[in-house]
Amino acid sequence: MRMAKSSSYSSNIFLAAVLLFFGNVFLGAQASDVLYYDFVLREINVTRNCTTNTILVVNDSLPGPTIQARKGDLVYVKVHNQGLYGVTLHW
Ligand SMILES: *[C@@H]1O[C@H](CO)[C@@H](O)[C@H](O)[C@H]1NC(C)=O
Ligand SMILES: *[C@@H]1O[C@H](CO)[C@@H](O)[C@H](O)[C@H]1NC(C)=O
Ligand SMILES: *[C@@H]1O[C@H](CO)[C@@H](O)[C@H](O)[C@H]1NC(C)=O
Repeated sequence: MRMAKSSSYSSNIFLAAVLLFFGNVFLGAQASDVLYYDFVLREINVTRNCTTNTILVVNDSLPGPTIQARKGDLVYVKVHNQGLYGVTLHW
């Protein structure tokens, strides 16, 4: 009787350890994704109200594309600057 109780207790601990282990592996895999983005920067002329201005766009949009990442992910952004000047990007 005592033996069976002890065995059931330790198998519960074993089950909890297995769940924790696989839970961590699963969450760990989710939290450490490596993401790659390509940004193409170029100047375009935009005419509004009969006035033409040159603006710098990322993949033809302003603001640029959204980067979707989770905490802990590693994100590589390759910037192809086809604009007229050097640029600094901020996030
Ligand atoms: C931006 O444009 C380039 C070239 O068309 C494309 O390869 C890349 O996937 C685009 N990036 C995003 C974030 O949409
Ligand atoms: C924008 O307009 C300027 C001045 O007219 C011109 O020199 C330039 O080539 C134009 N740029 C584009 C991307 O059309
Ligand atoms: C265009 O010009 C009108 C009249 O000056 C002004 O009320 C409006 O806000 C302007 N629109 C833009 C997008 O600049």
